[in-house]
This record gives sequence, C-alpha cells and structure tokens, in this order.
Amino acid sequence: MAAIRKVVFPVAGLGTRMLPATKVLPKEMLPVVDRPLVQYAVEEAAAAGAEQFIFVTGRGKTLIEDHFDRAFELFDTLARKRREETLAALEAAMPEAGCFVYTRQQEPKGLGHAVWCARHLVGDEPFAVVLVDDLVHARTPCLAQLVEAHAETGGNIVAVMEVEPEHTARYGIVDPGEARDRLVEVRGFVEKPAPAEAPSRLAVIGRYVLSGEIFGILDRLPPGAGGEIQLTDAMSRLLEVQRFFGLRFEGRRFDCGDRLGYLEAIVALAMERDDLAAGLHAALRHYV
Ligand code: UTP
Repeated sequence: MAAIRKVVFPVAGLGTRMLPATKVLPKEMLPVVDRPLVQYAVEEAAAAGAEQFIFVTGRGKTLIEDHFDRAFELFDTLARKRREETLAALEAAMPEAGCFVYTRQQEPKGLGHAVWCARHLVGDEPFAVVLVDDLVHARTPCLAQLVEAHAETGGNIVAVMEVEPEHTARYGIVDPGEARDRLVEVRGFVEKPAPAEAPSRLAVIGRYVLSGEIFGILDRLPPGAGGEIQLTDAMSRLLEVQRFFGLRFEGRRFDCGDRLGYLEAIVALAMERDDLAAGLHAALRHYV
C-alpha cells in the first residue's frame, strides 16, 4: 500500500465561535502554550511521513504563510544575542522549501468545498485531511496511526472517538459494522443525530485518509446542511463504492475551535511541560 504523501489543511473557515479573537487573527494561529495550532498540525503530518503540505486558505489567512517563512530580522537578532536554543526551535519548524503549497477557497462554502479546492494539487492518489482546530494529543501522532492502519486496509479511514450519548448531535456519527481491534467498518455516516437516532456513539473527528475518488463526488455534490458542501455527504457516497473504516485512535482530542476545548488543551499540554507544570498547578489551585 502506497504511503500518504499529501496532506490537505482546510484553513479557510471563519472561526466564528472564537470571535472576537478570530476577527483578524486566523483561528489556526491561536497559541496553545507557545505554538500556534497550525504548527501542531504540520508537525503531526510530518511525523506521519507527509511530503507535501497543501493549505486551502481564505481571506485574512496570510499570517499562516508568514509563520512558516524565514523572519530575517528575528533570526539575526536571536543569533547575535546567542539565543541558540530559541533559534534552533524556530529553524526546526521551517519547512523544506517547496513543500508547502497554498490555494484559496474564495468563499467559505463548506469543508467539502474546501477539500475540493485542493483537487488539482492532490490528483488521484490517496491523501490525508487534517482539521487544524482539532488538536490531538497522543503518544503516536493521530495521523500516523491512521496512515499505519491505511497501509493495512487500504480504502478510506476516519479517526473516531466515543462521545457521551447526549453529545451525538454535535458530530458526524458512524453507523458501525464489523469491528477488529481499533478498526471498525463504517456502514454509514449520520450527521449530528439526536441521541435517540444515533446509530452509535462513535464520532468522526478531524483526521481523514481518503482516496482521490472523493474529488469526482465533490465535483457534482449539491449543498447539504447549512447550505454548505459537506465532506460528510461526499464520504457517504464514497462508501457506497469503496471500503471505509473508523479508527478508534489512541490519544485525546481537543476542539480548539471552541472556547472550553481550547482552554482545556492549553492546560493539558502545559501540565506536561517541566518548565510550566508546577507553576500552573499552583495557579490553578488558587482559582478552583
Ligand atoms: P468549522 O466547522 O470549525 O467552521 O470548520 P469554522 O468556520 O472554522 O468555525 P466556526 O464554526 O465558525 O467557529 C471545520 C474546518 O473546516 C474548515 C475550517 O477552517 C475548519 O478547519 N473550513 C470550513 C474551510 O476551510 N472552509 C469552509 O468553508 C468551512
């Protein structure tokens, strides 16, 4: 099975849940501890063996490009001040020239439409999609877990996690078929079902490995819920002709597009840092 070479990052959403912070600042540039969300996503993709990083951006998102560019004055100043460690961290985050590609979704017409905008850059090979606002903290990076599973199964794979029954209406929920270890066959997707209608508690989160055939489906897909072109609708059609699996990934996912999820991510990741854990613990004790 071929490795996954290309990863698409749809970053053209408006991030309305995090306003006013995201009025000017792209949601993907919100920091978790001391790194913007987009850097976590890129590091995760690199750890999964990605070679080409395709960003579907929109208006007001140029800071994302700048973040991965060389900042000459800054690098020069750090070098003169002998801040070797900081400089090395910045250098390490720089992509190899030519590996990052940017295209624009000119209007936020939905996640499916954003992915479709990358069709000419991806071609017809299997590729991954990473939603930057879903931060997954795991021993083995979540996308690497998906890529490894895909190498075994082929077809299409989405990351899934069990949610509380009362939360099914917030997610795309999987209609599960046969299960083996962490893999479950997907028989269908139900978008945001009420608890009573949910076929399971397995929710789809923002990591996907999809075959290039999804673009042919997106080509002629009408708008769905909310008048947007929905990736879930395209996946529902794809599973009529190709195998689809859900992977119960190991790790914890934080919805950083939401205030509470974002705060939790900061606390969780900071508590793992030797330089911050004790101080943060003391501060939290003061507040709770
Ligand atoms: P969200 O549902 O989180 O939407 O999109 P959003 O606009 O980013 O944020 P809210 O809900 O208004 O706060 C899921 C992912 O799909 C991307 C977003 O950037 C996010 O990573 N997306 C969504 C696009 O790239 N284009 C779209 O038209 C819609």
